[in-house]
Amino acid sequence: MTSHDAFRAAMARVPGPVAVATTIDAAGRRWGFTASSFTSLSLEPPLVMVCLGKAASTHAAFTGTGAFLINVLAVDQEGVARQFARSGVDRFTGGDMVPCELGLPGLPGAAARVACDLHTVADGGDHSILIGRVTATFTGAAEPLVYYERTFTRPAAMMRVPG
Ligand SMILES: Cc1cc2nc3c(=O)[nH]c(=O)nc-3n(C[C@H](O)[C@H](O)[C@H](O)COP(=O)(O)O)c2cc1C
Repeated sequence: MTSHDAFRAAMARVPGPVAVATTIDAAGRRWGFTASSFTSLSLEPPLVMVCLGKAASTHAAFTGTGAFLINVLAVDQEGVARQFARSGVDRFTGGDMVPCELGLPGLPGAAARVACDLHTVADGGDHSILIGRVTATFTGAAEPLVYYERTFTRPAAMMRVPG
């Protein structure tokens, strides 16, 4: 069995996207969290997934909702990433979010947005795996933000590997 530290060190070598997932609960309240665990899952049907800690303050809202929106952040949106990872604050005070696909809070300057109906909530240890069926997408022109070695970074100007 590997130690927590060794596991975390190995996973820090895996570059990931930086996304903010948003939803609105039955009372009309907005919820959101920063996630690097966003990835595509299936093409037919079109499915994506994002993992959410079971202890997170947003967990009940996201597992009880019918839909969520993934905002894939652009390089100039590191501040939004930090804001939506902050605990015990109203994460929406920055005012960056406007109603987008499905009327859910979204970022006009996002690198991409993926709107989903909640398809399945699967068990993933101390996280829940939120599987969404994609209902709408937006593809932006902005360069995406990348999380690597616990640091916000950019994708090395998207240079191809030689050879
Ligand atoms: C770059 C980055 C990536 C993160 N990725 C995830 C993630 O994939 N899943 C998750 O549950 N929390 C992730 N977090 C933590 C959440 O954004 C948030 O801080 C956490 O859910 C605690 O929030 P709470 O105060 O709502 O409990 C990430 C934070 C950062 C800064």
